[in-house]
Amino acid sequence: MNTFQISATIQAYSYDELPEDYRELVDRAKEMTKAAYSPYSRFSVGAALRLADGTIVRGCNQENAAYPSGLCAERTAMFAASANHPGQAMRVLAIAAYTDGHFTKEPVSPCGGCRQVMVEFEDRQKEPMTVILYGTEGTYVVKSSKELMPFCFVSESLKGAKGN
Ligand code: THU
Repeated sequence: MNTFQISATIQAYSYDELPEDYRELVDRAKEMTKAAYSPYSRFSVGAALRLADGTIVRGCNQENAAYPSGLCAERTAMFAASANHPGQAMRVLAIAAYTDGHFTKEPVSPCGGCRQVMVEFEDRQKEPMTVILYGTEGTYVVKSSKELMPFCFVSESLKGAKGN
């Protein structure tokens, strides 16, 4: 039996320390929490995604009385970008969450489903997607979404599944 560890590289910044282009994206993500439709969780998440051509595509969580029918902020932004700006690489994705009258202290942590979608877009575009996770007491930056999802299942994994 062997034990091994998988590590992730995360850069932790204060808001003031963030490079200006990252801070701008964080500000857009924070603004987008206001457009969230989150009457059930009261947890409003905003996302801002910068594409290779400089366009910023925004998203926020959209809930539904039939709970699984809702969608997270990150996926609304990524799917909107893919649908409306096909072929444009997704360079940087910033996320912020607002609940109980304030933005979260801890950097917001994307769910597994959103991480899976980030990794697949990153693979398709063959360049890394930087992810910025905002919190009032610290903001995390990962230079590739794969830092958030090591040992992930990707389209290549399907080939192995078929025994190819
Ligand atoms: N949510 C997001 O939109 N993004 C995240 O990273 C975490 C969770 C949403 C889903 C749901 O509408 C609400 O937050 C509570 O889980």
